[in-house]
Amino acid sequence: MAKNNLITVYCFGEEIGRLGFDENRGASFFQYNEAFLQTGKYQRLFPLIITRIKQTQVFDKYNNDTFRGLPPMIADSLPDLFGNIIFKIWIESADRNAGKISVLEQLTYVGSRGMGALEYRPSKLVSSDDTIDIDEITEVVRRVLDQKGQVSAPQLDHASLLNIFKIGTSAGGMRPKILVSEHKTQGTIIAGDVIVDDNYNHYLVKLGIDDDVKYSRELVEYSYYLAATRNGIEMTESKMIENKHFATLRFDRVAGKKKHVLTATGITGFDYTEPKVSAYENLFELLVYLKCPHKDVEQMFRRMVFNLVFANHDDHLKNHSFLYDEEQDEWGLAPAYDVTYSLNPELNIKTKSRALSVNGKRTEIGIEDVKVIAQKYTIKNYKGVIEEVQESTLYWKKVASEVGIPDTIRDSIFKNFALFV
Ligand SMILES: Nc1ncnc2c1ncn2[C@@H]1O[C@H](COP(=O)(O)OP(=O)(O)O)[C@@H](O)[C@H]1O
Ligand SMILES: [Mg+2]
Repeated sequence: MAKNNLITVYCFGEEIGRLGFDENRGASFFQYNEAFLQTGKYQRLFPLIITRIKQTQVFDKYNNDTFRGLPPMIADSLPDLFGNIIFKIWIESADRNAGKISVLEQLTYVGSRGMGALEYRPSKLVSSDDTIDIDEITEVVRRVLDQKGQVSAPQLDHASLLNIFKIGTSAGGMRPKILVSEHKTQGTIIAGDVIVDDNYNHYLVKLGIDDDVKYSRELVEYSYYLAATRNGIEMTESKMIENKHFATLRFDRVAGKKKHVLTATGITGFDYTEPKVSAYENLFELLVYLKCPHKDVEQMFRRMVFNLVFANHDDHLKNHSFLYDEEQDEWGLAPAYDVTYSLNPELNIKTKSRALSVNGKRTEIGIEDVKVIAQKYTIKNYKGVIEEVQESTLYWKKVASEVGIPDTIRDSIFKNFALFV
């Protein structure tokens, strides 16, 4: 590999390896740092696709929008739709063409602000511990989105976009979101992109900025969080901020340390936009392959049932993640996130195909399909799980009203619930 145009990948303070990119072929190259390999540490850091050998490995199968030519576990560090809008407008506010930024350069902007524990050097931006005013940030995001990421942002200068760039481009997903850290005792809120400090709670905040709908998507997500956690679905503690924004504690920042996290897409290279690989069975197979404990398999089953019953159709492979235990060199299922109603409750939608199939089906999934999975993965008392989840739809109805979701929206969501026993 030529020396220029290389970036170095770090994790837990160790230099893991170097990454190069061939723009003409849309292919990337990765070479492990030999000294790291010799330590024998973190054997299962990348449990698939990248092999633990000292030779350079070429990745030429991933030249599409999801992976941008990178090994999938590295592509996981790049922003998705929302982050890319912010990235583009920030780059263009400095009179640069975002289309000309190479994927490696983009990783240097990720630097140490990425989700999980992977870091990239050189790193372009320095950290800051600026206090954040969420209302102000929301307003900038609103103005950016109003322009739909179009080329010029006359009323937004480069400097005022910097903060939102730093804290708004790390996490994936479509919805507007920022990373902030709240001091545990003083309550001050600062930029949450690079800080890892046990004196703070580190949050991912999904911003309530929609003017196009008459209800709050964030409140709906919060009401789902209440129903899901009551149902035994593991999620990090979450809350509403000013009844507008949905804040969820980050599971990749624990006790003042970074945790290595990959989405199912990042671990496997299964493109989350590709129906062929988008199946719950693949998640179960991955749990088995990673030797996750059986309780994780049971948990995944419960999440699947919850998503079926509560009409969360957007349960794609990037909405499920895995968490690495660096002490034991083991993988487990990460807490659930993005568990919400994914259709538009202002429209009367009858059927919608779901992102992940169950027993080969994306619509009209019945108890017999769920049973096939339950039997294949030895789920104890699967009927009991289904009953519990179905019963909790009534609990949801109650909390939906309590948190302030309008009755019409609540009823529209409720009638799309799948009650299949
Ligand atoms: N609590 C969390 N801790 C750490 N990472 C998270 C958490 N919640 C979400 N993420 C990461 O952020 C990404 C975007 O969050 P998500 O809720 O899926 O947003 P969107 O609704 O825009 O898809 C997820 O794909 C996941 O990788
Ligand atoms: Mg998502």
